[in-house]
Amino acid sequence: MTDAPVIPVIVLADIAHAVPLARALVAGGIRMLEVTLRTPVALACIERIARDVPQALVGAGTVRSSADAQAAAMAGARFAVSPGYTHAIGKACHELGLPLLPGVATGSEILAAQEDGYSQLKFFPALQAGGAAMLKAWQGPFGDVRFCPTGGVTAANAHELLALSNVACVGGSWLTPADAVAGGDWARITQLARAAVQLRGA
Ligand code: 3PG
Repeated sequence: MTDAPVIPVIVLADIAHAVPLARALVAGGIRMLEVTLRTPVALACIERIARDVPQALVGAGTVRSSADAQAAAMAGARFAVSPGYTHAIGKACHELGLPLLPGVATGSEILAAQEDGYSQLKFFPALQAGGAAMLKAWQGPFGDVRFCPTGGVTAANAHELLALSNVACVGGSWLTPADAVAGGDWARITQLARAAVQLRGA
């Protein structure tokens, strides 16, 4: 979570896009890549990136079950991100040795994740569920937790979130616009990544 200010949330519909997209992000300074398990080719894309882009650290997003966690680990994912939290997912990732960034949106979910040893959490969907005000409210009771707010985060509002003491990084899909990916506009993606790397100092 401290490698770069932004973890890109990636949706890949075409396996041929996986490697050039990963290389474009790495060229811009972003190495931690979350490929969401939302398309039939997602696992194959993770496999390709893990094999062909060694400078990247590719993980699986949208992990919603222990079976997803297992499939992600088999494909070579180095970490997992879940949109919510269950004990089963936490346990599966722990057993697989797969670092997990669990999604939470309420105090009870934070407590459940902490009970299982997770205190670096994804706040999802961040803007829709309260944004910076919610994160500030959590600073008191959950002062030992670091968050990666994701959902509705953009280049325009990321700075306000990154300025909070309990935010380690943010997640978002704005580094990989669907039209740039479909059109193979890798230079634009590298530019977006470069700008994202500058966010923490902004
Ligand atoms: C997701 O998991 O889809 C992320 O929340 C991305 O959300 P965004 O498209 O609002 O960045």
